[in-house]
Amino acid sequence: MIILDGKKTSNDIKEEIAVEVAQLIASGGKKPHLAAILVGNDGASETYVSAKVKACEKVGFNSTLVRLEDTVSEEELLAQVEKINQNADIDGLIVQLPLPKHIDEMKVTEAIFPQKDVDGFHPANVGRMALNLPTFLPATPAGIIELLERYKVETSGKHCVVIGRSHIVGSPMSILMARNSYPGNATVTLTHSRTQNLKEICQTADILIVALGKPEFVTADMVKEGACVVDVGITRVKSDKTKSGWKLKGDVAYDEVAEKCSFITPVPGGVGPMTIAILLKNTLLSSKREIY
Ligand code: GUN
Repeated sequence: MIILDGKKTSNDIKEEIAVEVAQLIASGGKKPHLAAILVGNDGASETYVSAKVKACEKVGFNSTLVRLEDTVSEEELLAQVEKINQNADIDGLIVQLPLPKHIDEMKVTEAIFPQKDVDGFHPANVGRMALNLPTFLPATPAGIIELLERYKVETSGKHCVVIGRSHIVGSPMSILMARNSYPGNATVTLTHSRTQNLKEICQTADILIVALGKPEFVTADMVKEGACVVDVGITRVKSDKTKSGWKLKGDVAYDEVAEKCSFITPVPGGVGPMTIAILLKNTLLSSKREIY
């Protein structure tokens, strides 16, 4: 069994990006610049956004963090997005999700210029992805693709089962795995809360990608011998074994499932760090105007 080490791979990618940024600046170019908007004080979102800002510093990017109260109006948030759209120094903009209930997430997503949408969530970029046109790929599925590629996991003709159909992970993941390229060319089954016989379907998966947000949902009896298992879940659960009293758990019962796998991602240190590496990659692509 081989561990798909997202932490190491993400650090490798960050080093590659840092080298490229240094060359860019040495040849008179400008520093890539990522802006993030964080609304409210959700603990998980705070952690993710501060990790993104820290990663920008590490590779030599500029970053701007705009913090807004959770009572901010949709109008004010849209005005902030527009301000960043119009700021020629900023190459990429992300609005951390989820947003408070009184704000229409899709309206905000559509307000971001597709040319700065380094999350790849704008309908124009989702369409471009589906048509295999150059675009900013959504960071979590693209991070998984990059991990499969760097570890040379075979995907062509394999049965890939994705659990979860979110706009951020499951749905784009199913599109990318079915593309006519490597990693891809898989036969993809996208499963969700209404799927019948989920266990039996999972048992036929050569590659199982789990993104439903239920700790330890996938157990050993659901996994085929020799499968590659990718765990996107990350849930904080109470634990009496750690100093903090909390532990991060994936959607896969790691210890029992790992024994059956050819490849598996750990939690933490698997998919999570890859997401940040791809966000940086997208921001660099944007600053070099390589997509649009
Ligand atoms: N919330 C959970 N994942 C993501 C992500 O990749 N980007 C943004 N903007 N918000 C998220």
